[in-house]
Amino acid sequence: MFKAEKRTPPQKVLIASANPLFGRGLERLITRRWGDGHIQIRLASEMSETLSILTEWGPDLVIVDYDDRNINRAEFLSHFVAGEKPMQVMMVSLQASGAVVVYDRRTLTPAQAEDWLDLQWLSPQTAEMDHSMPKRSSNMKHFVIVGVLVVVLTLVVNAILTGIGILPVEAATQAAVIDRLFNLHFFFIAFLFSLIAVFLMYSVVVWRKKAGGPDEGANFSGSNRLEIAWTVFPLAAVLVVSYLGSVALADIQKEDPDALEVQVTAGQWFWSFEYPEFGITSSSLYLPVNRQVLLRMSSVDVIHSFWVPEFRVKQDVLPGENFVRELRFTPSMTGEFTVRCAELCGGAHAYMNSPVIVMEPTAFDQWLQDESGVTVSDPAARGLSVVKQTGCVACHTIDGSNSVGPTWQGLFGKEETLVDGSTVVVDETYLHTAIVNPNAQVPEGYPPNVMPQNYEQLLDEQDIADIIEYIKSIQ
Ligand code: CUA
Repeated sequence: MFKAEKRTPPQKVLIASANPLFGRGLERLITRRWGDGHIQIRLASEMSETLSILTEWGPDLVIVDYDDRNINRAEFLSHFVAGEKPMQVMMVSLQASGAVVVYDRRTLTPAQAEDWLDLQWLSPQTAEMDHSMPKRSSNMKHFVIVGVLVVVLTLVVNAILTGIGILPVEAATQAAVIDRLFNLHFFFIAFLFSLIAVFLMYSVVVWRKKAGGPDEGANFSGSNRLEIAWTVFPLAAVLVVSYLGSVALADIQKEDPDALEVQVTAGQWFWSFEYPEFGITSSSLYLPVNRQVLLRMSSVDVIHSFWVPEFRVKQDVLPGENFVRELRFTPSMTGEFTVRCAELCGGAHAYMNSPVIVMEPTAFDQWLQDESGVTVSDPAARGLSVVKQTGCVACHTIDGSNSVGPTWQGLFGKEETLVDGSTVVVDETYLHTAIVNPNAQVPEGYPPNVMPQNYEQLLDEQDIADIIEYIKSIQ
């Protein structure tokens, strides 16, 4: 219902009727409705009297007997239309239907006229429509249907999300804790998707415009219930999820005093793993199963990120000795996995992978023994150990296949074409230059600035000589 204007009682009422009963009956009705204190009422029983009172006295409400032949309605209305002062006219018919015809004369500003158009320009049907918030009971049926559809779709979407195997195998005890959170989120995602999709599609299908129906739906604003609901529920969801998140974080960070410590060094673009208890360094991460490992990680250049998806844990690796980051996990499955760098760190970021080998404890002990017993009398063997530690093999293969950098197989002694078109024979001098100043003589087909330029600081002359011996050995 449009807002009813606040109306004050009329001051002067003129009743036009030749029938004295009509006039007196109305007089009584008017005093009963508005009280008899302030309202002046005059009666007119014929046309000329009616018109003179209308012009001289200026009533604000005129009630005309619709059935009275003495009152010429057309003449009366032509006078009514001519004036400007607010005036209302009711033509009341006591015969037949008892219908009342109402005329309302008033002067409006353009803005008021605009509002008046909005209010009054309603067809009789729409004028009777209730524009307030729809009644709860009449909508209950729709809410029940939508509710059932939301529940069904939530279960279906959740089953799909958890069924298609988005997550890799759980290979660490921490993975189960993280996956509980993942599954909770999958459920939330399924529910929110269903809530929006079902309401949207239901409205599109059920509440579409019907032939001959109104063009626009009811327009209502403000619902405290709705506003409280959409404030309280998301707030509760955020609090619940953050609580569960903190519990899970505390759980996966539980310390085991027997943890195996490994120092991890990340750089452009390699991983290097040092076992300080055993004096071993490796470019692959070897771990015993079912024993917690503590990684202490730092970077020699930019930010990298240690990530083995099967373990579900991830930790950024930062440069700077004050920013050593720790990560704990307990492998629960033997096998070979891959550590990936999960932080964009330059040209070969995508290739910054290293093997992670989880072994039975006895096999791991055997590996420790083998590694710490390496004889270092052979320069090529020392070179192999250096290139493993330094991560050179992340970009250079030893089997002839192409990678980020040229393969080392058959490299020594080969004639290499450089980017400037000149050729050079790969000898000790060329390899030395290529290691300490990689941009000096870039081979054709490889972009400059990809190979780090700081190996002169990282390696001593003996290391470089050993690496060259190692490269010479790969034919
Ligand atoms: Cu290191 Cu990306």
